[in-house]
Amino acid sequence: MSALAVTEPAGRLESVSTGSALELRGITKMFGALAAIADVTMTVQSGERRAVLGSNGAGKTTLFNCVTGDFLPTSGTIRLFGEDVTTFPAHERVRRGLRRTYQISLLFGGLTVADNVYLACRGVSRGRFSLLRPRRGDPLLHRAEELIDAVNLSESAGTLVAELSYGQQRQLEIALALAGAPRLILFDEPAAGLSPTERAELIRILTSLPGHIGYVIIEHDMDVALRVAESVTMMHNGRVFKEGTPEEIENDPEVQALYLGGGHG
Ligand SMILES: Nc1ncnc2c1ncn2[C@@H]1O[C@H](COP(=O)(O)OP(=O)(O)O)[C@@H](O)[C@H]1O
Ligand SMILES: [Mg+2]
Repeated sequence: MSALAVTEPAGRLESVSTGSALELRGITKMFGALAAIADVTMTVQSGERRAVLGSNGAGKTTLFNCVTGDFLPTSGTIRLFGEDVTTFPAHERVRRGLRRTYQISLLFGGLTVADNVYLACRGVSRGRFSLLRPRRGDPLLHRAEELIDAVNLSESAGTLVAELSYGQQRQLEIALALAGAPRLILFDEPAAGLSPTERAELIRILTSLPGHIGYVIIEHDMDVALRVAESVTMMHNGRVFKEGTPEEIENDPEVQALYLGGGHG
C-alpha cells in the first residue's frame, strides 16, 4: 500500500486515504553538527503496530519529536494519514488523531485518576480548557470510565495520581493518550522501570487496544517489543538499520551482533 501512496498523482493524496497512518521520507534532524537522525524513511499503515528498537542515543525520541511537531526536521517530509504535515504545529497533528506518551511523566499529581481522564476527554472536545466539574449525565464521564477500565484502573478511579504506583501512572498515561479519537499513538518506552507484573499488564493493555488504533512503540526490551508489535524498525546511529517482522529481527545475525556487542544501552 505504501507503493500505491508514492505512485498516486500528487493532487489526489490530499483527499484520498492511502491506507498509511505515517509516511516518513528522508527525515534528518541536525543538532548543530550532530545528525540525531539521518535520512529516515519509514511507512506505518493505518492500524499497524510497530516497534522501534535501538540503543540509547540511536535517535528514537528525536524521531518521535519530529513526528509530533515538537521539532521541525532539518529535511524530509512527514505525512499523516496521507496529508503532508511536515510544518504543521503539534496541535494540528493532534487534531488529526496523533497522540504520544513521554518517557517522563507529565501527569497532574494533585488530581484523581478520574479527573485526569475526564479532563483529557474534555480537552479534545468543545469547551476545552474549562475546568468546570462534570455534570451528571455528561457523556464524557461515561467515556472517561471506559478509558479507565481499558487500562485496568477502575479500582483506583478516585485515587490521587500522586498516590498511584509507577506502573499505574504509566497505565493512566495510556488512558490519556486514548482520549479523543486517536488513530496513531507514539509510546516512548512505556515499559521502562516497570516490574515484571506491571510489564505483563502493559502488554495486555496494548494488545487489547481497538484494532483501528495503530501505534509506534519505542522499546528497549526486545521481549516486550516482539510481543506487542507486528513489525519492527531497528535504528542505529540515527539511521534505519533493519526493518522486518519480529521474527526476522530477532533472528537477524547483524541485529544479534549489535545487541550482544553492547551497542544496546
Ligand atoms: N534537544 C537536543 N539537543 C541536542 N542534542 C540532542 C537533543 N535531543 C537529542 N539529542 C541528541 O540526539 C541523539 C539522539 O538522541 P535521542 O533521540 O534522545 O535518542 P534515543 O531516544 O534513541 O535514546 C543523541 O546523541 C542526543 O544526545
Ligand atoms: Mg529516547
